[in-house]
Amino acid sequence: MSNQAVPLFLAPMAGVTDLAYRLLARECGADVTVTEFTAASGLTRHNTNSWLKVESDPRERPFIPQIFGGITSEMVETVELLQDRADVIDINFGCPAPKICRNDAGAALLRDPDRVVEMVQACLDVAEVPITVKVRLGTGSGPNTALEVARRLEAEGIERICVHGRTLRQRYSGEADWQQIREIVEAVDIPVIANGDVTDAATATRCLEETGAAGVMIGRGAIGRPTVFHEIKRDLGWRNQVPPWSSDDPAVARLWCWERYLELSEELYSQQMNKNLKRHAVSFTKGLPGASAMRVNLHSMHNQTELGNMVTSYLERLIDSEALVA
Ligand SMILES: Cc1cc2nc3c(=O)[nH]c(=O)nc-3n(C[C@H](O)[C@H](O)[C@H](O)COP(=O)(O)O)c2cc1C
Repeated sequence: MSNQAVPLFLAPMAGVTDLAYRLLARECGADVTVTEFTAASGLTRHNTNSWLKVESDPRERPFIPQIFGGITSEMVETVELLQDRADVIDINFGCPAPKICRNDAGAALLRDPDRVVEMVQACLDVAEVPITVKVRLGTGSGPNTALEVARRLEAEGIERICVHGRTLRQRYSGEADWQQIREIVEAVDIPVIANGDVTDAATATRCLEETGAAGVMIGRGAIGRPTVFHEIKRDLGWRNQVPPWSSDDPAVARLWCWERYLELSEELYSQQMNKNLKRHAVSFTKGLPGASAMRVNLHSMHNQTELGNMVTSYLERLIDSEALVA
C-alpha cells in the first residue's frame, strides 16, 4: 500500500503558502496546492487583500482556492464569484483560530454537522466546479463529528475530503490520530486525504499504512523545506528524477529553493513588498549554524532585494564552509 504512489498535497497555510511558494512547492514535487484560507466575507465585499490571496497562475493547475465563513449566503456568493477562475473550491472546517471560531466558522462549525451540511449543500447547488472540504476530527468538546460529516457530505456530492487528525481543542498539540482518519477512509468512497505530522518518507509511509488514505497533505514539514515532496518521492521510489537543484546536499537544495522563491516572488509581485518574505527567510534558515545571528539583521531590513541577497549570501557561505569541512 505505502509503496504505491499517491498525490502529495501542500497544506494550505496562512502567511506561508502564497502563490510564489505554491509554485515553488510544485517545482519541488508537490502534486496539489491550495491557497491559504480566505474569508468569504472579504471576497464578497471585494476586499483587495482577500482577492490577492486567491490569485493564481497558469502553472498552478488545478487551482484550488480555500474559503471559509459562518454565513451560508456569503459562502454561496463566494463560490459564484470564484468559479470562473477555480478548478476546485475547498471549504475550510478546520481552522482553530479563536477569531474565526467566535464567528462560528472554521472548525467551530464541526459542533453542528447539520449546519456544515446545510452550508455545503447550498454551495454545491450553485457550484459548477467540484467542491472539497478540509476538516479536523471534531471540536474536542463532545464526540468527534468528522466521520458523520464525511458520510453526509459524500452523499451531498463533495469530491474529496481532507482530514487533519486533531480536534479544534488540540490545535497543534499532541499527535495526529491517524486511526480516526482510517475510520473515515473505511466509511466513505470518495478520496480521503490524510493530514497531520507527516514530515518525511518514514512518516508518509506510516501514515499511508495506518490510514489507507488516497493522498497525504503536508503542512509544517514543508515550511522552509519545500524539498520534502521530492525527498518523499525519491525515498519511496515513486519518482526517479534528478531534481532541479541536482545535488543531494540539503544546503545546495535549500539555496536553490531560496533563489527560486525570490525569482518567482519578483516575477509575481514585482515591485510590491512580499509580506511573507521575512517569514520565509526565517524558516529557510531555521536551525542552521549562525542563522540566529544573521536573523538579527534581517528584522531591521525593509528592502526586499537586500533581504533576499543577505539570505542568499548566508546560504552560500554555509555551503562554502561545509565544503571546507568535508
Ligand atoms: C502557519 C499555519 C497556517 C495554517 N493555515 C491554514 C489555512 O489557511 N487553512 C487550513 O485549512 N489549514 C491551515 N493550517 C493547518 C494546516 O493546513 C494543517 O492542517 C496542519 O498544519 C496539520 O498538518 P501538519 O502536521 O503537516 O502541519 C495552518 C497551519 C499552520 C502551521
